[in-house]
Amino acid sequence: MDKLVKIKIDDKEYHVQLGKNLVNAAKEHGIYIPTLCHYRDARHSLGTCRICTVNVNGKSTTGCTTKVQDGMDIKINTAELIDTRKAIIEMLFAEGSHFCPSCEKSGNCDLQNLAYDMGITATRFPHVYSNKNVDFNPKQLVLESNRCILCRRCVEEIKSEDGKDIFSFVKRGVKTHIQVDYEQEEKMSKAQALHAMQLCPVGAILVKGMVYKEPFGERKYDAKGKNKKTPVNHKKQAPNGKNKFIVATTSLAGCFGCHMSLLDIDTEILDVLEMVEFNKSPLTDIKKFTKRCDVGIIEGGCANSENIEVLKEFRKKCDILIALGECAVMGGIPAMRNFIPLKECLEEAYINSMTSEIGAHVIPNHEDIPKLLNNVYPCNEIVKIDYFIPGCPPNANHIWKVVKSILLGEEQPVFHQEFNYD
Ligand code: SF4
Ligand code: SF4
Ligand code: FES
Repeated sequence: MDKLVKIKIDDKEYHVQLGKNLVNAAKEHGIYIPTLCHYRDARHSLGTCRICTVNVNGKSTTGCTTKVQDGMDIKINTAELIDTRKAIIEMLFAEGSHFCPSCEKSGNCDLQNLAYDMGITATRFPHVYSNKNVDFNPKQLVLESNRCILCRRCVEEIKSEDGKDIFSFVKRGVKTHIQVDYEQEEKMSKAQALHAMQLCPVGAILVKGMVYKEPFGERKYDAKGKNKKTPVNHKKQAPNGKNKFIVATTSLAGCFGCHMSLLDIDTEILDVLEMVEFNKSPLTDIKKFTKRCDVGIIEGGCANSENIEVLKEFRKKCDILIALGECAVMGGIPAMRNFIPLKECLEEAYINSMTSEIGAHVIPNHEDIPKLLNNVYPCNEIVKIDYFIPGCPPNANHIWKVVKSILLGEEQPVFHQEFNYD
């Protein structure tokens, strides 16, 4: 029988097998350490993503590469470690151009699910919007490097029948990216190709013709997350003695879907109207602020000069600002144009597109037309945002739970299925 040793995890004593991987040892005792690059059948731990960061005998290290020894004093759930893990996930979102609403892996994605589990609603880091290669050349696969988190799972695990590499890392430092050996890839069986797609924790490896096979709502994490509560940190806001709270809303560079979601609460809107009065809002068609507002709800990011002006005005006139939906929080689908120079975007839209009039050669340009910005920006890169409600669009119940808990100071549980980025 394997030797048992005594260790401490978060000040409690446990008996575990000597030399066992810490993530697995903790799991046996019901203690969860989040992981991304580590996977059940790993021949050896990869230690590439650092999401499993823990503290062993006073030093930070990766849980998945730690083998337990007698007397170890391990900390897993301190406030600092939880924040470090969140920051790592947020960095991956900021660095990697993750547009969940348009991603084939949404609902099956480990990175996305970890963000739900950790209650991440936005990233504290500015988005990089790096434009990496999307490789359509392989026979069976598409490799979307903008989503790759360089976990190395595919490099280690997917080999040809005679043991040759199919995936490899090329270049170094920030230029490191994944590359496919086309000759070996062509020889992969369909099952091997599917295994590679499933093994990739994000949507970087896709099999041509096999994506979107499972409908949304029936994907891995759609089912697993059912009824799971998501942590939300609402600062409590005492009611200020007024009968009604004044709420303003606006739609910047978005599709108005988030406003449709606001209306989706159906008859509950009657309860909401008891509690709030709408001011400047497309819902009321009030175009200018007529009073100071308690809460401003912003849909959409900033794509042009007018969006910036409106957003700054909201910041001035509202005590609390909420970024509502993927576009306001991360830039969303409109930010996909950040990879293409503005001039090319305009030429494509007005001159070269299939729907342009034959002979069209004018790109609209007038001092009264708001100027398009080179990039589309999430709202928090322009002004301070107090709360973020992600989703595309966010679920109606989720929106009103957050708004009510901010206004009334009542903490309301938000469930996994209400907390979707897709
Ligand atoms: S679902 Fe796609 S876009 Fe979203 S985190 Fe996963 S890989 Fe990135
Ligand atoms: S392609 Fe997927 S499995 Fe391979 S390194 Fe990137 S994220 Fe990991
Ligand atoms: S899970 Fe441990 S470093 Fe990735």
